Amino acid sequence: MSPPIPDPISVRRRLLQWYDRHGRELPWRYKKGETPDPYRVWLSEIMLHQTTVTAVKGYFDDFTTRWPTLNDLAAADLDAVLHAWQGLGYYARARNLHKCARIVAGDLGGQFPGTAPGLKALPGIGDYTAAAIAAIAFQKKATPVDVNIERVTARLFALSDALPKGRPRIFERASTLTPQSRPGDFAQAMMDLGAGVCTPKSPDCGVCPLKVDCLSAHQGNPERYPVKAAKAPRPVRYGVVFWAVREDGRVMLRKRPEQGLLGGMIEIPSTDWRDQSWAQVEASRQAPVKGRWRRLDGVVRHTFTHFHLELMILIADVDKKAGNPKGALWSTPHKFSEHALPTLMKKVARHVSR
Ligand code: ADE
Repeated sequence: MSPPIPDPISVRRRLLQWYDRHGRELPWRYKKGETPDPYRVWLSEIMLHQTTVTAVKGYFDDFTTRWPTLNDLAAADLDAVLHAWQGLGYYARARNLHKCARIVAGDLGGQFPGTAPGLKALPGIGDYTAAAIAAIAFQKKATPVDVNIERVTARLFALSDALPKGRPRIFERASTLTPQSRPGDFAQAMMDLGAGVCTPKSPDCGVCPLKVDCLSAHQGNPERYPVKAAKAPRPVRYGVVFWAVREDGRVMLRKRPEQGLLGGMIEIPSTDWRDQSWAQVEASRQAPVKGRWRRLDGVVRHTFTHFHLELMILIADVDKKAGNPKGALWSTPHKFSEHALPTLMKKVARHVSR
């Protein structure tokens, strides 16, 4: 007997029934019959993009306590928003979040567009987020595909095209499942199923409501999906950080350029990050102030999406006469938390304090 082709009607019915009993209670979720607040849905989806639910919960509570409405967030200082975002990563998202809040609160009279194309025209909202907000906040028949939905769909239909090339087909199949009614619950049910049952390793098919519909479960090899193309290894880049300490214990910080990685965040001054490692003498020439720079043992390593970074640390005691370059901020390490310091720079501070 040939295995069944997943039937959208059966999938929708079983999955929504399962969601009503087993869906996660999350701070941005609405119960059946409640009207979602697009601001909270938008905020959660921006935060959740490329991050985990566990990482986001605290930030979501913090943001919505400080800025309970879209107008509150639009009126906030960008620096306060960046500061509150600290640790969530991908700071461009926080800048776009703020920009978007200002556009919607100002130009759009406080109303988010109610369709995926309308939402996609706003800063920081791509295909996934536009579809998620349209479905969850506005009950539009839209299909967001995040990694969980991607995995569940690839397994349901046993789609063997390797990612990333296989993505359009996964999207197409996922779209056939999206129901006219409760599209937002359906999307979130797929996410929950992916997060808790149809997990990357050892999926728990025994408790899966979609087992009867699932081609890969019939084949007995769900873990094979989604098939992934071999990844090119991440290159290593090198940089040098200058830890300049004044007599009063303050260390030099400065703001990074607005454009580029960690744009607008506060850093301990560093060279550019390049493919070749740095010789100490060469690096010292780029120091932000004159001083007797000496090298600290060890390096700080950090991994970004597209490369690994290795930072050497040079340290110098500088006196006030050494100069105060434009834009320099001076802060004692125990007050670094008052600045929007990215995780990488916190690692540097920890390394030095050891
Ligand atoms: N990941 C992205 N959006 C989500 C949501 N609404 N619920 C759970 N996980 C998510």
